[in-house]
Amino acid sequence: MNLPQLRDTAQALFSDDKGLLAMDESLPTCNKRFASLGIPQTLEARRAYRELIVTTPGLGESIGGAILFDETIRQKTKDGAPFVTVLIEAGIVPGIKVDQGAKDLAAFPGERVTEGLDGLRDRLGEYSRMGARFAKWRAVIAIGDGIPSRGCIEANAHALARYAALCQQAGLVPVVEPEVLMEGNHALDRCFEVTEKVLREVFRQLYSQRVTLEGMVLKPNMVVPGASCPHQDTVEEVADATVNCLLRAVPAAVPAIAFLSGGQSAEMASARLNAMNLRFKSRLPWALAFSFARAIQQPALELWRGRIPTYRRHSRLYITAPSATRLRAAANTLPRWRRDDRKQAQS
Ligand code: 13P
Repeated sequence: MNLPQLRDTAQALFSDDKGLLAMDESLPTCNKRFASLGIPQTLEARRAYRELIVTTPGLGESIGGAILFDETIRQKTKDGAPFVTVLIEAGIVPGIKVDQGAKDLAAFPGERVTEGLDGLRDRLGEYSRMGARFAKWRAVIAIGDGIPSRGCIEANAHALARYAALCQQAGLVPVVEPEVLMEGNHALDRCFEVTEKVLREVFRQLYSQRVTLEGMVLKPNMVVPGASCPHQDTVEEVADATVNCLLRAVPAAVPAIAFLSGGQSAEMASARLNAMNLRFKSRLPWALAFSFARAIQQPALELWRGRIPTYRRHSRLYITAPSATRLRAAANTLPRWRRDDRKQAQS
């Protein structure tokens, strides 16, 4: 394992308060998001959408790494430039989602385990040759009556650790994503308890599989009340709970923690991350950053709505300029159209 190389990659991903753009929706997920906005669910529509994103002017000012999907890493712009090349030229490190989705966990009703270890070694080699420098694997843990079970947490944590070890062997930084889902009416305390339990097990398995913590990135959920919980805690309460939970369970050797947005609005996810950095940054052993999919892309997707014939003219995404204080950079990574573009698109 080449630790200096892994360290360099991890550092490049989060330098200058940058974060990750998770543009790695699987086919079913991407098609579902297109369908809800009346966008055709075709290969060309997906390609055009990804081109729109990777050619966003100024993207590299806020985004240090972009997570691609198997379909996307092989695609090119209309002008024939591979997306990987476009990203590298913009100063963005290409990454790749390598899990093959969460499937029902046998004998555990209502729980899922992420698959994709078979053949992973070869796939990592291929992605590395295509230019990927880091990878992502997402495990999902649901909160409900009597769940999550210990069996589900252990199975997912073990798979994450096996994946992470293979990544490091292949020279790719593993982004380890155990996502405790927001669905449900549970309170914030319950999310705290489950997230802590899951993270402790993940790090136990990472240790057992000899994963080098200095050469990985953790991608957790924030500690939030369930989406349908009647009491929604304040931004500061969520920031405090999240950081306190992480302090209990995440070793200081991990260089960076990049949160998923998990269905939070763009504004909410950014506000909570900003609050964490403003309140705790100087006291934390790891960088706190973002690895958002929906919270970065959804506002832009809703504006674009698949205007394929004309998107080049007036549907480009724009990232607002970083603010004076780098601490607030996360809030400024949300894609925005310039006002004149927005007017045209709505006309
Ligand atoms: P969201 O930010 O939409 O939760 O997606 C993050 C991600 O990469 C899920 O695997």
